[in-house]
Amino acid sequence: MLNIVVLVSGGGTNLQAIIDAVSAGEITNTKISGVISNNKNAYALERAKNHGIENLCISPKDFPSRAEFNKNFLEAVDRLEPDLLVLAGFLVVIPPEMTEKYRNRIINIHPSLIPSFCGTGYYGLKVHEAALSRGVKVVGATVHFVDEGTDTGPIILQKSVEVEQGDTPEVLQRRVMEQAEWKILPRAIDLIANGRVKVEDGKAVIL
Ligand code: GRF
Repeated sequence: MLNIVVLVSGGGTNLQAIIDAVSAGEITNTKISGVISNNKNAYALERAKNHGIENLCISPKDFPSRAEFNKNFLEAVDRLEPDLLVLAGFLVVIPPEMTEKYRNRIINIHPSLIPSFCGTGYYGLKVHEAALSRGVKVVGATVHFVDEGTDTGPIILQKSVEVEQGDTPEVLQRRVMEQAEWKILPRAIDLIANGRVKVEDGKAVIL
């Protein structure tokens, strides 16, 4: 059984996709053992509570230094004994000590086809604003392992989505969520839960 802990900061639609996929048997061999948010107002926490999933809020704002937050954050994660950490719209930088301890056991969903529109400053609507500004015809989402960089770890799954005439950033964001994010994140978790993903020479391989 793969114990996963989902880290969230916002509405939690990706968390909901994971919850629903576990309930529907689309994600097998997996238990959501906790949800952690840095934002006490994140609706994602309500989604966890609605499904009886242990949840907690821990924010850098609650600590005198980032180092103090990082220490407490890692302890909070360790207490839940995760096999896999899932970043689903989590907006806090993962401490290097966590990346090291959970090497190739942290995944992230990014709302673009990495390496496009990713890295520092590319998150949420900003990603879709940049895509529309550049005039690309195809966008999408990426699930990747998290390393010390920003959106730089081995890519596990990607799914493309068409840009349509007249798209606003909000409309495009929703389509990318519906057609890509909510599909490939659960799929990636199921593949990992069933031992079908390995990292070779810095690349993720699906078995
Ligand atoms: C999603 O667009 C995801 O790609 C990005 O942050 C957003 C989170 O949305 N990482 P939600 O909280 O899962 O609804």
